[in-house]
Amino acid sequence: MKSIIVSMVAAAGLIIAGSALAVDMPAEGKAKCGACHAVDKKVVGPSFMDVSAKYKGDKEAASKIAANVTKGGAFGWKLGSMPAKGMGANDAEIKSMSEFIAGLAK
Ligand code: HEC
Repeated sequence: MKSIIVSMVAAAGLIIAGSALAVDMPAEGKAKCGACHAVDKKVVGPSFMDVSAKYKGDKEAASKIAANVTKGGAFGWKLGSMPAKGMGANDAEIKSMSEFIAGLAK
């Protein structure tokens, strides 16, 4: 009986972890990018899922995304212009967010 309960709890934990992974923005993304971006829907800027799809299959995706986030501007989405480094993200935050974005559409 005890083992059944333990495995049910473990299964529930996996379901929760799985759904959080599918949609949750890393903390630095919420703080520095979240005013204009969401993972799965367009806000001021494109959804990170759409950006990931644009770079799907590109081995350099994370570094290209990081370069664009660092310099800001327009990247063909016709949504306006992005401020360089979003809302004051540092290089480490830009790198981790770019890897997160690049990994979404795989
Ligand atoms: C003030 C609003 C704003 C903030 C803050 C912001 N962005 Fe953007 N972002 C935009 C807009 C607008 C675009 C689309 C520009 C265009 O029309 O091409 C964009 C585009 C992008 C793209 C697409 C790049 C490409 O190569 O197509 C990425 C990636 C991105 N943003 C990441 C980020 C990250 C990561 C952060 C946080 C560090 C961030 N943005 C913060 C407004 C913002």
